[in-house]
Amino acid sequence: MSSLLLYCRPGFEAECASEILELPARVPGETRYDPRCGYVLFMPTDADTAVQLHAQLAFTQLVFTRQWFVVCEFLKDLPRGDRIAPLLASAHKLGRQFCDVFIETPDSDASKPLLPLCRALRTPLEQGLKQAKLLGKTTASSPRLHVCFFTTDYAALGYAHTSNSSPWPMGIPRLRRLHDAPSRSAQKLEEALRVLLNEEERQRYLQAGMQAVDLGAAPGGWSWIMARQGIHVDAVDNGQLAASAIATGFIEHIRADGFRYRPVKTVDWLLCDMVEQPSRIAELIGQWFVRGLCRHAIFNLKLPMKKRFQEYKLCLKTLRGMLAQTGREYEIRGRQLYHDRDEITLCITTRSP
Ligand SMILES: C[S@@+](CC[C@H](N)C(=O)[O-])C[C@H]1O[C@@H](n2cnc3c(N)ncnc32)[C@H](O)[C@@H]1O
Repeated sequence: MSSLLLYCRPGFEAECASEILELPARVPGETRYDPRCGYVLFMPTDADTAVQLHAQLAFTQLVFTRQWFVVCEFLKDLPRGDRIAPLLASAHKLGRQFCDVFIETPDSDASKPLLPLCRALRTPLEQGLKQAKLLGKTTASSPRLHVCFFTTDYAALGYAHTSNSSPWPMGIPRLRRLHDAPSRSAQKLEEALRVLLNEEERQRYLQAGMQAVDLGAAPGGWSWIMARQGIHVDAVDNGQLAASAIATGFIEHIRADGFRYRPVKTVDWLLCDMVEQPSRIAELIGQWFVRGLCRHAIFNLKLPMKKRFQEYKLCLKTLRGMLAQTGREYEIRGRQLYHDRDEITLCITTRSP
C-alpha cells in the first residue's frame, strides 16, 4: 500500500493535512505529521488510491503543499557505508525508467543538517541508476524518482509525475538573488510568477506595454518586478518608494488609500500586498473583477494564527462567488510560497478576456 508525502512550510502541517483530506477529491484516509516537521504523510484507506490521487488531482490545486510524491517504500537502517545499494534495489522494484532523481529532506530545522548528505548522494545514485538503465530520456509521461531522508539512515522512496508536481526539489525554486530590488518582497512576486503561471502563461500575460496597479506598493519590490518586464505600474501607497523603483521609469507613485483607489481604465494586472484582514482583501479583489477593473490579479492573504485553513476557504468562497457574477471564466491558483511566511499568495487569471 502506498502513501503520499506532502512537503509544506514547517508549522503549516495541519493546513496541508486538512487540504488533502477536504479538497477536492475527499479521499478517505489518515494523515500523519509531527509539529513543525515540514511534511505530511497521507495514507488513503484504500490500497492504490495514493497512486490514483497523484495522477488525477492537479498539483496546481494544492495551496499548502510545495511538493509531493507517491511513497512506495520506507527504507530503515540504511548502512552508513553504502546507502546507494538499498536505494537502487528499491528503485528497481518499481519496474520503470525515471527521467530524473530528486534527493530531498523536509524543510525543517531538524532536517536541514541532512542537506549535505542529500547533495553527496546525488551523483552516485544517478550513476547507479544509469548503469542499471533506470534513468533515461525525459518524456512527458516519465516519472521522477524521489528519495526523502528523514534521518541519516531512514528514507522514503517513491516517484512523482513531472507534469503534476513541482519542477524543483522540495518544491523550492532556485531563484537568482535580485540585488537591486527595492525590497525582499520582490523575490516573493518573482516566485509567484514562476510557481503560479507556466511558461506559456508568463509569455501571454506579462507583455511590455501592459498596465498594472500595485496596492500597498511601498517600497516598490512588486512594482519593480513588473517594471522590469516593461509593464507600466501605478504604485499606490502613502509610504515612500525606493529610488531604484522610481529609476525604472515605468512606475508612477500614487499616494492614496488602496481600498479606495480605482483606475480610470481596465488594467491588465492588479497586485495587492497590503497587510490587512484576508476577508477584506478577498472582498476588494472580488470588487475589481466584478467592476471589470482588471484582467488578472496576484495578491497576498495574511492568514491569522488561528483557523488559518478556515479563513483561506472563506476567502476562496467569497472570491468564487464574486467572480461568478462576472459571467467570465477564471483560473484561481494559490500557493504558500517559499518566500511566504504566515500567508499565501493567490493568482487569478481571466480565461476568456
Ligand atoms: C508588505 S508592504 C508591501 C511591500 C511591497 N509589495 C514590496 O514589494 O515592496 C505593505 C504596504 O502596504 C501599505 N498599505 C497598508 N495599508 C494600505 C492602504 N490602505 N492603502 C495603501 N497602502 C497600504 C503599507 O504602507 C506598506 O507599504
